[in-house]
Amino acid sequence: MLQYNEQDMNDIRLKLKDMGTPIKIGQPVSLTIDGQAVKVARGTSVMRAAAEAGIAVPKLCATDSLEAFGSCRVCLVEIEGRKGYPASCTTAVEEGMQVTTQSPRLDELRRNVVELYVSDHPLDCVSCSANGDCELQDVAVSLGVEESRYGLGEGGYREVEADTSNPYFSFDPAQCIVCYRCVRACDDIQGTFALTVDGRGYASRVTAGQLESFMESDCVSCGACVNHCPTEALVEKSVIAIGQPERSVTTTCAYCGVGCSFHAELKGDTVLRMTPDKAGQANSGHACVKGRFAFGYATHRDRITQPMIRDSIDEPWREVGWDEAFAFTARRLREIQQRHGPDSIGGITSSRCTNEETYLVQKMVRAAFGNNNVDTCARVCHSPTGYGLKTTLGESAGTQAFHSVAHADVVMVMGANPSDAHPVFASRLKRRLREGAELIVVDPRRIELVNSPHIKANHHLALRPGSNVAFINAMAHVVVTEGLEDREFIAARCEEGPYLKWREFIAGERNSPEATERITGIPASELREAARLFASAPNAAIYYGLGVSEHSQGSTTVMGIANLAMVTGNLGREGVGVNPLRGQNNVQGSCDMGSFPHELPGYRHISDPAVRNLFEAAWNVTLRPEPGLRIPNMFDASVAGHFKGLYVQGEDVAQSDPNTQHVESALRGLECLVVQDLFLNETARFAHVFLPGSSFLEKDGTFTNAERRISRVRRAIEPLAGLADWEVTMALSNALGYPMDYRHPSEIMDEIARLTPTFAGVNYTKLDRLGSIQWPCNEAAPEGTPTMHVEEFVRGKGYFAITGFVPTDERATRKYPLLLTTGRILSQYNVGAQTRRTANSEFYSEDVLEIHPFDAEERGIDEGNWCGVVSRAGNTVLRAVLTDRVQPGVVYTTFHFPSSGANVITTDNSDWATNCPEYKVTAVQVSKVSEPSAWQKEYQAFARRQEELLDKARA
Ligand code: SF4
Ligand code: SF4
Ligand code: SF4
Ligand code: FES
Repeated sequence: MLQYNEQDMNDIRLKLKDMGTPIKIGQPVSLTIDGQAVKVARGTSVMRAAAEAGIAVPKLCATDSLEAFGSCRVCLVEIEGRKGYPASCTTAVEEGMQVTTQSPRLDELRRNVVELYVSDHPLDCVSCSANGDCELQDVAVSLGVEESRYGLGEGGYREVEADTSNPYFSFDPAQCIVCYRCVRACDDIQGTFALTVDGRGYASRVTAGQLESFMESDCVSCGACVNHCPTEALVEKSVIAIGQPERSVTTTCAYCGVGCSFHAELKGDTVLRMTPDKAGQANSGHACVKGRFAFGYATHRDRITQPMIRDSIDEPWREVGWDEAFAFTARRLREIQQRHGPDSIGGITSSRCTNEETYLVQKMVRAAFGNNNVDTCARVCHSPTGYGLKTTLGESAGTQAFHSVAHADVVMVMGANPSDAHPVFASRLKRRLREGAELIVVDPRRIELVNSPHIKANHHLALRPGSNVAFINAMAHVVVTEGLEDREFIAARCEEGPYLKWREFIAGERNSPEATERITGIPASELREAARLFASAPNAAIYYGLGVSEHSQGSTTVMGIANLAMVTGNLGREGVGVNPLRGQNNVQGSCDMGSFPHELPGYRHISDPAVRNLFEAAWNVTLRPEPGLRIPNMFDASVAGHFKGLYVQGEDVAQSDPNTQHVESALRGLECLVVQDLFLNETARFAHVFLPGSSFLEKDGTFTNAERRISRVRRAIEPLAGLADWEVTMALSNALGYPMDYRHPSEIMDEIARLTPTFAGVNYTKLDRLGSIQWPCNEAAPEGTPTMHVEEFVRGKGYFAITGFVPTDERATRKYPLLLTTGRILSQYNVGAQTRRTANSEFYSEDVLEIHPFDAEERGIDEGNWCGVVSRAGNTVLRAVLTDRVQPGVVYTTFHFPSSGANVITTDNSDWATNCPEYKVTAVQVSKVSEPSAWQKEYQAFARRQEELLDKARA
């Protein structure tokens, strides 16, 4: 078999930019092309075989990321013993085949075809913004076509108006050669099926939807059609406005946990476009609207690029130099410690910053602050994943690479909405589903995957919010009681004692689908069918998200998921596994880097003397053995008056954390709040020191995505404020008297590798060579570990934890009869600080309340009405959207806009093991109202006042 590894593929890509048709794997076939002996895998096209031998056959409709289509007829070749001139892109190689790619006759035929194209195309190459980046131009030049015998574009091309409705790209039908690449990219890669070709022959025309504009159609602005267009028909507006890029820097998206690789393409210091990297191992050349287009926030006028300080939050900001800001901050923090004790300050690391930056913040807290009061936003998203997977499997991370899903036969998606939150993974998943894999969706809401073009979930188990544990137990109950376990796997791979105990527990009648039906709302018969489907699949994979973790029993559900995977033998190979879809770009990394108060980098407990000794020797300090405060503990301690100083890097806790009013009280209670960020975010309005942050385009480092993949972030432009975030933390630590001296983030990574066994083999040279590395990367796995737990679990034998269902306190009552659950939307990201400052707001400009028409009618609520949403914690007002996407009794909103106050109503209930907030279940009442809530009015007034104080500083 001819098999290609990533390195081979990179070598091939380097030889020729586009190989014409996709790579194939199969038995070797020998042939000659232009007299040259060539050996390729069976199924390879003649075009690709030629390309792999370094012979370029002209092409227009073919590209190596799409299966061949054979529409343009430019790639004709001669094959000994065959009549005519077959298209090389659609002709597969055969043993002994003799191919000629260059001859006078082929030249003539190709020129003829290209002349036809040119006759229907504007001849404005010199003034065209694609000049130099147009495949039609390249082919015409290579064939010496300078004019057309068919009219030379004398009005022959279509005078249809360009579609400029999309904020990021435009479509000019006049430039279109109807090669179908865009249509195929939308269908095969993105899976949205938004484009068609209308009409026939010369009248044929690409159109979005049913002759709609791109904005009116189902298009989700992923940009795949733009990437694949060989002409300027589909092109980024930035290229039209500014011109072709002059240089590019390969880096990693700073939005979600998929971690797509991009080429940041620049003209001078202006980033023109982000082009997805075909060699990117997480995304294979695909992207979503956020990473592809929503990068303008990095240079938005709201960026603060001068450090600012003030004594109280009622005073105007004072712009100062970096040195004064560091001295002021260090003095204030030390004074607080003198007055209130060493534990009265702490820090929060960022899941948006690099591994190196996060590592430095936790190091500064432990070494310079002298305590373990460090935490990260994973506290409020995936901390239960860490706890649950560590307990059962021995490692706190997902088990697979994304491409593993291509081998799955059944996929269970639980509490995750990949189409909106992890779109590039969703496209991979959809491709596998179109190939025939079966799908179980477990979600209170009908997410897009349930029924989307060419995809229909076998089961949508619309469980009630708060019933995850009852559900996952019922799944395992069916497996165990119907004899569907993988006994061989369990015997070989799992601890026997705990398994037997668990088996007895799970087989209990209270875990049966019939008994849990009244809790979950899932009909027992359907749950049984879903469990049988899952258990009998050769390969069954579980993907889950915050709909699993953000519950009072988040950790229990994660353990239940691991139990289900173990009992069905679905771990340790491709196509299976337990896969948490991480929210933010570096949430995996921030956890890996020791951001939790009880763990040093690599998830090693601070109380372990051997681990502490290692770090003490390297850092030249004495570390405290007891865990520090978690974020909610810090807030409680502030409200109680004994926590007074906080350094927050790249997080917006005032908007993202639950029970906003409690968080605001905590922030107001601080004597020194230091915020390091790009913008004056909601948290910074309560701050005394503002340290300008740097965007991902301005720094070097690494991010770690949801598949444990460490990828390089590379500087494309200079830091707007003069310093990258790691340099700021280093300088602050020095001002506090704890010396740090790194000249480049690679030195920080070298220190991480020295101190963290799972990172021991990671360095920048290797990252540059391999493109990315999935940890663990060490002596045993020098090039990383795509699939975890292959021979045995990290903890040795797998551990079946007992997962008893305990109902949350947050139950629907007569006073609060509806259950509110929250989620994300494709075009906005987290607290929206970045995406709200881009044209993505044209797609989604406010958080709304989704309510079922029955519930709305009962309350006299019509579409678009303002609704008061009241919980035990607070109330807010949102506009109503009536939809049966949510089931009766459940309402749903997003949390991307601060003024909507989604977290004013979420409570401070949290996961029993990790304190992860129970965002996904809040009992509420909803009624029609006519004005904003009291909190919203106060918020607007406070925000206005803080903007004025900022304006004064800037003036
Ligand atoms: S941008 Fe993406 S979704 Fe929209 S038409 Fe192009 S490929 Fe399809
Ligand atoms: S818009 Fe571009 S990719 Fe689509 S058919 Fe026309 S030329 Fe081909
Ligand atoms: S899927 Fe995630 S990582 Fe990829 S481009 Fe979109 S936001 Fe960025
Ligand atoms: S490239 Fe082969 S037919 Fe178009």
